[in-house]
Amino acid sequence: MSAPLYQSPKGVHDVLPDDHLYFSFIKKVVRHHCRRAGFRRISTPMFENVDVFTRSIGSTSDIVEKEMFTLESKSGKKFALKPEGTAGVIRAYIQHGMQQLPKPIQLYYVEPHFRYNRPQKGRFRQFHQFGFELIGESDPAVDAQIINISHRINQDLGIDDRLTLQLNTIGSMTDREKFKEDLINFYTGKERSLCEDCKRRMKENPLRLLDCKEEDCQILASMAPKFENVISSESKEHFELLKEYLEELNVPYELNPLLVRGLDYYTHTVFEFWSKKDGSQNATGGGGRYDGLIELMGGQPTPAIGYAAGMERTVEYMKETGIRPPNKDAVAIFVAQLGLVAKKKSLTLINQLRDEGLNVVGAAGKGSMKSQMSLADRLGAKYSLILGQIEVQEGTIILRDMNKGSQETIPIEGIVEKMTKLLGGKSLKNKKLWEE
Ligand code: HAM
Repeated sequence: MSAPLYQSPKGVHDVLPDDHLYFSFIKKVVRHHCRRAGFRRISTPMFENVDVFTRSIGSTSDIVEKEMFTLESKSGKKFALKPEGTAGVIRAYIQHGMQQLPKPIQLYYVEPHFRYNRPQKGRFRQFHQFGFELIGESDPAVDAQIINISHRINQDLGIDDRLTLQLNTIGSMTDREKFKEDLINFYTGKERSLCEDCKRRMKENPLRLLDCKEEDCQILASMAPKFENVISSESKEHFELLKEYLEELNVPYELNPLLVRGLDYYTHTVFEFWSKKDGSQNATGGGGRYDGLIELMGGQPTPAIGYAAGMERTVEYMKETGIRPPNKDAVAIFVAQLGLVAKKKSLTLINQLRDEGLNVVGAAGKGSMKSQMSLADRLGAKYSLILGQIEVQEGTIILRDMNKGSQETIPIEGIVEKMTKLLGGKSLKNKKLWEE
């Protein structure tokens, strides 16, 4: 077979119906937990002024330096496709005057995001994230609750056994400035042992030296000064309380002093869910506190914390674990027909069955009964209803159980009620969908 004329761009993929079963299930679980905890959904645009990301994520972060899809308008304005959700949510929070509303403000999102990185397993140029942000509360009990919701979502998706929660604090801005100085002093003179990225990081973003994946850099990182030497007593207390609350909630965690996260806006708590098998490669999700970001973006100083997870990676872990989400798309009934009169009757019957909340297909094409039955098989229909000329004349219909291969001829009268009972439909008749 020759290659198709057009293919999706590198690192970008279609979400096909089988994967949408996973996506729908993940969304359902996320929505359930977010609603229970008082979050409301927000969608921000696919692209923003480029400064929204440069300022928040950090001009020297990998995302801004290397991974943004930038666009230029005809008038020369610079935009970028959103590489993550937090920056846009904070821009919207300030723009729409949410600062005046009672705190905390709690928002969640399920959106596509874009990063121009080298495509590989679990790393795409367009991917989906679900995430949530809680704005206006600095209590570590909130950090514990955000981490707990993330953990509960992983549990309900059936993947928590494959993951470990990595936890660290990177303290306040002031703590961090002191720590950066310590790191620069330690690394000065050792530049030759660092990878090219880390040589650059040393000047621009020394904290990132700690979470480089290169072996030589990791050896140096393990010998580097520890943050606990500079952390202030307030930051320490925040972290100690968070750990106590997590223990109270029975959320298992591993302390990881090298975890710093790749976005510049974090303060205090940072966390990621790593694979037990692959470590930091392909973390399913990560988040943390960002108490300085709202002020940095032009708002009033306001503490905040959030989390986001990659949906493609989550799906991958679910598949590896053997989790099959419920198939709400499954066809329950196939309606087969022969002849024009039967086809007309079938159209009405299909409508009536669908009104009972059943998934029904059929009454199309000119195929023989054999080909219609083989289509019903391929679609995985539980039952077929067969209507030919004789049945129309006699007021009957053939009900075929597709699994057993048995069939019976029964009166067409009452067939809708019978099928609804057999399949446990949920009647939508006389109901507006918004009343469901
Ligand atoms: P992040 O760690 O950059 O955090 O991304 C969160 C998750 O998105 C990752 O753990 C990963 O599962 C997924 N992800 C990121 N890049 C890709 C990619 N190229 N392909 C596939 N999946 C990817 C953030 O984005 C922060 N905004 C999280 C946050 C919310 N912090 C506070 N609030």
